Amino acid sequence: MEHASVWKKILKLDKIEFPKYDKCAAEYNPNLEESHSREDRAIKFYGQAAAEAQNSRVKEIFEAFVEVETDHLHLSEARLK
Ligand SMILES: [Fe+2]
Repeated sequence: MEHASVWKKILKLDKIEFPKYDKCAAEYNPNLEESHSREDRAIKFYGQAAAEAQNSRVKEIFEAFVEVETDHLHLSEARLK
């Protein structure tokens, strides 16, 4: 949601619709798996945005997001072991 908030400001959007999620699970692993899934979706989204970007600076920014989210993915992978 932090990233969406940044994009909302950059794109001057009035509102962003967020998917509805269930509450956090009581156990650690289901929450970690959900987090892992979100990081994976973010990597795919930013990767696609980088591939489609027409401006080299915009492409560079999306590629940096892919790098950051990939770090997050590796963190959740390490915790899931
Ligand atoms: Fe992330």
